Amino acid sequence: MKRMMTAFLCSALLLTACADAAPAGSSVSDGQSGTQSEEQAEDQAEIKGLKDVFAEHGIKAGCCVSGFAINSRNIEPILLQQFNSVTAENSMKPDAILSKADSLAEGTLVVKYGSEAQSILAWAKENGLSMRGHTLIWYNQTPDWIFHEDFDTQKPFVGRDEMLSRMESLIKGNFEELDALGYTDLFYAYDVVNEGWMEDGTMRKNNWYDIIGEDYIWYAFYYADKYAPESIDLYYNDYNEQYKADSLCRFVNTLVDEDGRYLIDGIGLQAHLFTDDDLNIYLKGVDKLATTGLKLQVTELDLGLGSYGSPKEPSEDMLKEQGRYYYELINGLLERADAGTINMDAIVFWGFSDLTSWRAEYSPMLFDKTFQPKYAYYGAVQEKDKAGYE
Ligand code: GLA
Repeated sequence: MKRMMTAFLCSALLLTACADAAPAGSSVSDGQSGTQSEEQAEDQAEIKGLKDVFAEHGIKAGCCVSGFAINSRNIEPILLQQFNSVTAENSMKPDAILSKADSLAEGTLVVKYGSEAQSILAWAKENGLSMRGHTLIWYNQTPDWIFHEDFDTQKPFVGRDEMLSRMESLIKGNFEELDALGYTDLFYAYDVVNEGWMEDGTMRKNNWYDIIGEDYIWYAFYYADKYAPESIDLYYNDYNEQYKADSLCRFVNTLVDEDGRYLIDGIGLQAHLFTDDDLNIYLKGVDKLATTGLKLQVTELDLGLGSYGSPKEPSEDMLKEQGRYYYELINGLLERADAGTINMDAIVFWGFSDLTSWRAEYSPMLFDKTFQPKYAYYGAVQEKDKAGYE
């Protein structure tokens, strides 16, 4: 009975929460919004969200957030009800944290967080949320000027030594900025390098690689290990991880210092999946990566309907298939974590609603465009009877 009551309250809260955020043309009315009674607030405090379900397995439930999401009085309550970890969706990426004016003035890379990052950090602190840092060294969303002499894209690339020195400044500057602003303690993990490998087992060719050489990832971890506090786990993060598992396993063994100590703590599994992806192959990839003995975190989970380039319509059947897939995937991960065959302390979703997802055309998230929970949500919280099974 309690369980049914909980589910009802959950829907009611979500309906209330999304009332005035409903997109134009939505049938959701704002008739339910208004001041909550204390009793309602107490009831809501008892509602089990993803964070409560995952906590039973020692795992944080995370979501990426933008400045828009945390300032929306419709989205914020859902975030706070469901998640206890956040990742800045864009505002802590290299193009958002590097100041060109200050870099020119100092002659090396200078990190200065912008107002969106600062408001996300302040919001996370105020609400007792933990944070995953994302991301320092990447080929994408990284300004071109950082690779050129005098930070001038008309001039040639700098040499290896100068680029290593700039990399060191970026990484050192990032952790100094966090410290200066008073947010270091929020972070339990940081993506030091994002997407450095290809599915064919070769390294991705990018400016970092071209200028520094194939040891650029080693140096990124060397500097991160030097400047990040011990309390922050250092991650290599990538997509299509099930197909990259063999080469990543070999590669992480090279990320050690002269005493053989790992410079890396964990591997981030982006998990940008599709319902057409074979779940057994995915979980085999996870098992393979676990053989490194490193921690694993799911860092950007979303599950599109169909396959890459071929989105399927969110029909009732497809939404049920998605619900079952989410159930089996999360169940597979929680079982492995419980059995100790993987060391996983976070599962982070790349958004929460099909309205704001970067892959909206694939309807990949747990909540629909009017912020109602889908079969996918019930699959993720392991309520199998509501997850799309007949
Ligand atoms: C990658 C990145 C994320 C994000 C997504 C697309 O997975 O790691 O930061 O940019 O692409 O939104």
